[in-house]
Amino acid sequence: MVMKQDEMLKQQAYLAVEEKGESVRKDPYYPGYHLAPPVGLLNDPNGWIQWKGIYHLFFQWMPFHAGHGAKFWGHYTSEDLVHWNLEPIALTPSDWFDKNGCYSGSAVDADRKLKLFYTGNVKDEHNQRESYQVLAESEDGITFTKKGVKIELPEGYTPHFRDPKVWEHNGRWYMVIGAQTEDNWGSVVLFESVDLEKWTHKGILSRGNEKPFTNLGYMWECPDLFELGGKDVLVFSPQGLEADGIDFNNQYQTGYVVGELDYKEARYTHGDFTELDRGFEFYAPQSALDDQGRRIVVGWMGVPDQDEELQPTVKNGWVHQMTMPRELKLMDGKIYQLPLNEMKELRSIHRNNTTIEEEISTEIERTSEIKLDGEIESIVLFDYSRLIYDRKRMILTLERPSYRNGEIEQRSCILKNDLEHLHLFVDHSSLEIFVNNGEEVFTSRLFADPSNNSLKIKPINSAGLQVWDLKNDTIKQENYKR
Ligand code: FRU
Repeated sequence: MVMKQDEMLKQQAYLAVEEKGESVRKDPYYPGYHLAPPVGLLNDPNGWIQWKGIYHLFFQWMPFHAGHGAKFWGHYTSEDLVHWNLEPIALTPSDWFDKNGCYSGSAVDADRKLKLFYTGNVKDEHNQRESYQVLAESEDGITFTKKGVKIELPEGYTPHFRDPKVWEHNGRWYMVIGAQTEDNWGSVVLFESVDLEKWTHKGILSRGNEKPFTNLGYMWECPDLFELGGKDVLVFSPQGLEADGIDFNNQYQTGYVVGELDYKEARYTHGDFTELDRGFEFYAPQSALDDQGRRIVVGWMGVPDQDEELQPTVKNGWVHQMTMPRELKLMDGKIYQLPLNEMKELRSIHRNNTTIEEEISTEIERTSEIKLDGEIESIVLFDYSRLIYDRKRMILTLERPSYRNGEIEQRSCILKNDLEHLHLFVDHSSLEIFVNNGEEVFTSRLFADPSNNSLKIKPINSAGLQVWDLKNDTIKQENYKR
């Protein structure tokens, strides 16, 4: 009997996990409580949804090597956003319409089914790209059946047309797609449907050369449009922005605009573009609404083409991880990102609870949470990365050695308020810093010497310090073949 392509790809991927999974998980840089690939490369979060009470997070996955290629959809589930299970592979690039990758997309709950929309990436015999928006469905949330192409490339765009994000509004379905116009501007396109089968192209909601923008990039990836604090927020990842002082310092950006979407006229009026995260690695986030009404976002802790192949885990057969899930709030037109309450579940030992009046030097676990109340002059983590605060200019800067040549590189932001709170989550080779209750966030990978546990903190006057050891065993990968 001839094995079907889908089954064959699954077997090959499972074999890769069996052969290399253990050595990947033993890597001292492998995260303890963040989601990472069992082997190979992980990029964008996909299909993020709470469905029938269970949180599903799919991910762009290349199981065969720690680089990009014909992507699969890997799958994690959770009941509480802290404990996660790796599930069987959701999608493989096995069909004519997705043979070069089941690219990014989203999930909705409809007709008691979990429905996924994703981009089928195809390269023809002349290496020309084709793009199809594809539907796949599941009754149990684990096994998916592809239902074929629902949207073909409309006129006016290049085949850089991908990453459908679908949502419901007033009894109709809407979809935004990240696109490149024929004259090479990044844009976001709106579609509408009554049944998730037949889709109408409603037009462009925003583009890189139209007000308020003059030059916001040649391609916009992974759009996400949602209601937050009474406004319509569009988060997207534009490519082709020039660095501008402390802004836009990564290879590609991720940010948002705040505005109003007129669904009838398919017109979106919005303000300027603001970066969502100030760290070295953050891209392609996706949000979902949960049953407590929270808008929860997960981002990819990586940036395409940003020296990915130089990350030290590549030689050990894996690369990249997700951010923690975070709650989004809109206050005074600005997005705040907060660690979820559930993350307190991760705490094991309350290692420090003290007030510091002068520089201290201590040791922490590689999975730790650190809370600081008060103004801080500097924090040095693992003698590798430094956070410094310029109080006069209210500029906060994160430093680390570059993957390329070891020279110190920086990412900065200007605070709106005095520095009062810092909340750090450390996980083996990653750091997420929440500043002033989510006013700014720095997300970064840190490949410090794994045997170095040093933490040095210098307060400006005095500061309250709390440190917790965090659990290391909340993600299970052994049930994936069930
Ligand atoms: C963003 C992205 C998406 C695409 C996917 C492919 O990182 O380039 O636009 O769908 O990754 O893996």
